Amino acid sequence: MIITVLGFKGGVAKTTTALHLAAYLQQYEPTLLVDGDPNRSASAWASRGKIPCDLCDEKAAIKQAPKYRHIVIDTKARPNEEDLEHLVEGCDLLILPTTPDALALDAMLLMVKSLPKGTNYKILLTIVPPKPSRAGEEALALFQEENLPHYPFVIRRFSAYQRAALSGCAVFDSKDRSSKTAWGDYQKLGREIVKG
Ligand SMILES: Nc1ncnc2c1ncn2[C@@H]1O[C@H](COP(=O)(O)OP(=O)(O)OP(=O)(O)O)[C@@H](O)[C@H]1O
Ligand SMILES: [Mg+2]
Repeated sequence: MIITVLGFKGGVAKTTTALHLAAYLQQYEPTLLVDGDPNRSASAWASRGKIPCDLCDEKAAIKQAPKYRHIVIDTKARPNEEDLEHLVEGCDLLILPTTPDALALDAMLLMVKSLPKGTNYKILLTIVPPKPSRAGEEALALFQEENLPHYPFVIRRFSAYQRAALSGCAVFDSKDRSSKTAWGDYQKLGREIVKG
């Protein structure tokens, strides 16, 4: 399975999502994380420590790909139309992470409109603030109302992710008391994807 993580806006957890999804899939079958962002944030993350899956850039990916059962591709923010077409063509599933704030939601809705017809995509709400904020629930209700394909759960905001990025590990290996709870959210995503 080839899964591409795509988003128009910066900082909506594309890299975090690609890395943790690859980490999830790697538990069961060989999985390659492809750093398709010229900023190389996934590579920088991995260089600070050890991530639980193999990683390469998009050039090396062509040679590496046949060795793996799953490929998860991290991409840059603000892809142009041509990038978008290539990215969509080359994958089985497109995950569109978005935070639940108005700016990110608007950017995501624009992106959905520009996707080629028939694209297999799903929206993933990320960095969702805890109660009393209702931002997550409200965004989920909006997706429901607009009939937009989305995951029915959210990735909650936890400090463990920043720690993980700094230590170059996945969130379950970060030294933070929310690390296991945080990982639980990406496990949900992984299970849902494996289920198909
Ligand atoms: N669930 C979360 N809770 C708290 N912080 C998070 C969460 N997910 C990601 N972050 C933090 O938010 C920031 C942006 O995340 P990330 O780099 O994954 O986004 P991105 O969409 O890949 O950004 P860019 O567009 O720059 O590539 C990082 O500092 C990351 O540690
Ligand atoms: Mg990124």
